[in-house]
Amino acid sequence: MQVIHFVVVFLTISLTKTQSPDVLYDELFSTVQTQRVFSDSKTFCDVVPRALTPNEILDLYRQQFNEPKFNLTSFVYEHFILPNTTTIVHDKWTIEQHCHKLWSLLTRTTKEEKFSSFIDVPHPFVVPGGRFREFYYWDTYFTMLGLVRSNEIDSINNMLDNFAFLINRIGLIPNGNRYYYQGRSQPPFFSLMTELANQTSKYKNELEREYAFWMTKRNITLDDGAVLNRYYDDENGPRPEAYFEDQETAHKAGSTDVYVHLRAGAESGWDFSSRWMDDENNLSTIKTANILPIDLNCLLYHLEITLGKQAEAERRRQAIHKYMWSSELQFFTDYNYVLKKPTNRLTLAALFPLWLDISTKEQGEFVARKVESSFLHDGGVVTTLSNSSTQQWDSPNGWAPLQFVTYRAILKVSGYETLARTIRHRWMTLNERVFSETGKMMEKYDVVNTHKPGGGGEYENQDGFGWTNGVYLEMLHDQQMVSSSIRYQTNILQLIFLHVFVLFYFLI
Ligand SMILES: *[C@@H]1O[C@H](CO)[C@@H](O)[C@H](O)[C@H]1NC(C)=O
Ligand SMILES: *[C@@H]1O[C@H](CO)[C@@H](O)[C@H](O)[C@H]1NC(C)=O
Ligand SMILES: *[C@@H]1O[C@H](CO)[C@@H](O)[C@H](O)[C@H]1NC(C)=O
Ligand SMILES: *[C@@H]1O[C@H](CO)[C@@H](O)[C@H](O)[C@H]1NC(C)=O
Ligand SMILES: *[C@@H]1O[C@H](CO)[C@@H](O)[C@H](O)[C@H]1NC(C)=O
Ligand SMILES: *[C@@H]1O[C@H](CO)[C@@H](O)[C@H](O)[C@H]1NC(C)=O
Repeated sequence: MQVIHFVVVFLTISLTKTQSPDVLYDELFSTVQTQRVFSDSKTFCDVVPRALTPNEILDLYRQQFNEPKFNLTSFVYEHFILPNTTTIVHDKWTIEQHCHKLWSLLTRTTKEEKFSSFIDVPHPFVVPGGRFREFYYWDTYFTMLGLVRSNEIDSINNMLDNFAFLINRIGLIPNGNRYYYQGRSQPPFFSLMTELANQTSKYKNELEREYAFWMTKRNITLDDGAVLNRYYDDENGPRPEAYFEDQETAHKAGSTDVYVHLRAGAESGWDFSSRWMDDENNLSTIKTANILPIDLNCLLYHLEITLGKQAEAERRRQAIHKYMWSSELQFFTDYNYVLKKPTNRLTLAALFPLWLDISTKEQGEFVARKVESSFLHDGGVVTTLSNSSTQQWDSPNGWAPLQFVTYRAILKVSGYETLARTIRHRWMTLNERVFSETGKMMEKYDVVNTHKPGGGGEYENQDGFGWTNGVYLEMLHDQQMVSSSIRYQTNILQLIFLHVFVLFYFLI
């Protein structure tokens, strides 16, 4: 039994290693990337061979590349099918119809394509859209919020099963279902997903396995014995899907040590942000793996509570308060465990302790006030207070998942409900305006200059878009709940008034 298990694990690992395009195509891969055959480094990672096997193509390349007439671009187009990019415009739908109807257009399967970089999963899944042709781990939670509102319960259950399948197969929920993503995970929202779907008991074993992953591969023990967690990546080198960009960053840094921090930044979901950088204008100074992030540790607190690990959750809560609350800034921040000091960067990650019930009432009020005075703009809340940057997880950009967490977090702070609803209203209004102009829901928005599209980062702004649609539908539901409860209250008032009036009438 043991031997069989070992063999199965060994086969799984060796199979998965060779399916990554950087391994399959070796120097053909690095040449295509460094010569910029495609402007987006991810394109070549998602090609599939037309007729020949990867080895045959590689052999052919090795025979031909030195010939004087050799043309790399023609060679690539001759031997590979390029992936599709979905852009969806439909001029007859309202924004609400668009969000409901898009799920079916964004649903994919890993069809039996030989030598594709897809990690096969048993069920269909919803992708974000644009260049994101596979599922993404933390995106899926926000997508699921919308799927609940569209009553697409089968789709939610399918994706939970896919995640369970992957935890059991590779020991973590990968960043996305591509072989080049398997060295890392993403913000651990699985416990929140199972809670949303009322399926926590069904996935208890997988939740335990996910917990074991974070507590053995992403754990840091501090001097006082407290255990907190960080983002990391078990693989190293430039990310295949950002091969050219990462090599450039390493070149500027003058060191390949930067790769693990870039990969850890990708695991954080905030790729990239001044939040992780020593010098907020210089990506080469990124230090993600040295940082214990506030949002990650709050998510793991939720996982501990979900698994009934009360003692561990309580120890984590105390460590969060000790290391991550700044009484000077009156805000939560990340902690750099190598420098042994807080990063003191003001970002929306500070809303996670409020959202997941880890902060005190007083802390909640301080954070809410800061959000109102500094983060709130015409189109919603900015990601961080750093706007020097060219990074996409910074000001002036706003992202749907962080609008949602901020809105729901502040809704929990007594006395700040109006602020929460203002954030919701401004974000929805921005989504609606851009939709009416373009027919699209975007990956991110500029919430400061609401007439400019969101920018920055390593690739173009994408449309579709899974988490934006999900958050919009969930916010719309909240808004309608409130207006229907106001209507209900108004009806009751009218009824009472009528009764008093009738009573009065009969009295005289
Ligand atoms: C290589 O082929 C592509 C199209 O297949 C063409 O656009 C390009 O000009 C060619 N490059 C050279 C150097 O001939
Ligand atoms: C791209 O989309 C077209 C049209 O839907 C389809 O025929 C083609 O097979 C797709 N290509 C890939 C690589 O999936
Ligand atoms: C989960 O349970 C709650 C409370 O019973 C219910 O309101 C909600 O619709 C359920 N969610 C799903 C996805 O079934
Ligand atoms: C992480 O946890 C494992 C298992 O408990 C332990 O062996 C390892 O030393 C820990 N790593 C760190 C950096 O604390
Ligand atoms: C960016 O940081 C790297 C690594 O510290 C340094 O070598 C480089 O000079 C910096 N570049 C700029 C423009 O400051
Ligand atoms: C960011 O930009 C805004 C307006 O463009 C400006 O008011 C603010 O002072 C800037 N913040 C920082 C930290 O530079």
